[in-house]
Amino acid sequence: MTSAGKSKRTAAAAKSEAPIRVGVVGVGRGQNFAASATELVGMKLVALCDIWEERLKEVGKNFGVTTYTDYDKFLEHDMDAVVLANYFHEHAPFAIKALKAGKHVMSETSCNATLAEGVALCRAVEKSGKTYMLAENYPYTAFNMEMRRLYRTGEIGEVTYAEGEYNHPMSARDRIAISQGMNHWRNWLPSTYYCTHALAPLVFITEQMPVKVNGLSIARREVDAETVRVGDPGSLILCRMDNGAIFRIFGIILPGHSNWYRVHGLHGAMEMTRGPGYFGPGQIRVWHEPWNCPEGVPTERSYVPDWPEHGDLARQAGHGGGDFWTNFAFANAIRSGEPPFLDVYRGVAMSSVGILAWKSALQDGAPFDVPDFRNESSRRKVADDHWSPFPSDGAPAQAPPSILGTPRPTQAGIENARKEWDKQGYKGE
Ligand SMILES: NC(=O)c1ccc[n+]([C@@H]2O[C@H](COP(=O)([O-])OP(=O)(O)OC[C@H]3O[C@@H](n4cnc5c(N)ncnc54)[C@H](O)[C@@H]3O)[C@@H](O)[C@H]2O)c1
Repeated sequence: MTSAGKSKRTAAAAKSEAPIRVGVVGVGRGQNFAASATELVGMKLVALCDIWEERLKEVGKNFGVTTYTDYDKFLEHDMDAVVLANYFHEHAPFAIKALKAGKHVMSETSCNATLAEGVALCRAVEKSGKTYMLAENYPYTAFNMEMRRLYRTGEIGEVTYAEGEYNHPMSARDRIAISQGMNHWRNWLPSTYYCTHALAPLVFITEQMPVKVNGLSIARREVDAETVRVGDPGSLILCRMDNGAIFRIFGIILPGHSNWYRVHGLHGAMEMTRGPGYFGPGQIRVWHEPWNCPEGVPTERSYVPDWPEHGDLARQAGHGGGDFWTNFAFANAIRSGEPPFLDVYRGVAMSSVGILAWKSALQDGAPFDVPDFRNESSRRKVADDHWSPFPSDGAPAQAPPSILGTPRPTQAGIENARKEWDKQGYKGE
């Protein structure tokens, strides 16, 4: 068992030790990690890196740390660990470089944009002996930590079926504002790739791993006229897990915000109540039929969950407490030398679900096997699989971003986007 919900070290203990010196790459989402790298988790922010110089300087001034526009120079900074919040599809090469430079790495989702990168990353972590963690924050909401605790008591029995949803619509204006450039990953991302917010909590609760994937994508009938996004807005992924259970994963930007999880076991079921998710007053619901209800337990109960510990600190952090817990779990893993729960194998397998589900969606739901990334003979089979939908990879057999092909953005969408990006001072294409 790797360390997960119940941390071995307390926040107070972390405070008394020499801080882990951290550098953050990417000052968009990266600012959350920078702000959470405090003495409360035994960390100290020492450097920031971004190629967007103007924004970097401003953020660097706020945090009062050294800034770099060159990643190689940044890696020469005297520090112990690197947090990667650069572009979604460029994390693996950055992680491998940092590991080679002797740094521990925590990476935003996704770990790998191709299967080949996933294999290379696993090998690099093994060779380095350093800590690697996927910075998935959704497992660490009070809801998901409580469901993990409850699952481990055995009350609902072994998982047979589970559902995870991360569907996050945004206004056209907001979407454009965080997707600078025609080929920015948010404008290009196929609908299955952002699957770990929906899948990781279920893996965290049940400790099952995906072994087979079927994906279906939900395409727009017409190209989004207000933005330059060409990827499909939604997808459904079915994962066969290693104990035979099926997990249903849904997302990504369809109207109707949803962040929700349910687990069925052999003796009952549990879920977050439907509604505004972790932003609102949700509850955990646990239920059994009369014939499978443990003695002394009601057949139906609902309650407001709390974190098993450090609730006071988690409550102050973003993303339902997840932004505290990811830094805390990373720091604990570095200090203890034990892999974190969201280690490279789980991270790469879950990221690869998004890739394989896209292969599947382009073949109308055909099944694809997920390699066992712990096993060299299994992962060797995909070590040269560079299949990618991202324009920057320029692969000869470039995968399209939509099941309808590669739609062209509308003129109105391009004009909308340019106006906003000009305002922000974005000078790229
Ligand atoms: N877990 C969460 O809740 C959550 C929330 C938002 C974003 N994210 C993830 O965080 C990552 C970053 O997201 P974002 O919203 O900040 O995206 P973004 O694309 O706006 O930001 C990426 C930043 O990295 C910088 N960058 C790109 N290439 C670089 C390079 N070679 N060297 C240095 N810096 C470089 C960019 O200039 C940009 O500032 C993504 O993987 C995204 O999926 C996670």
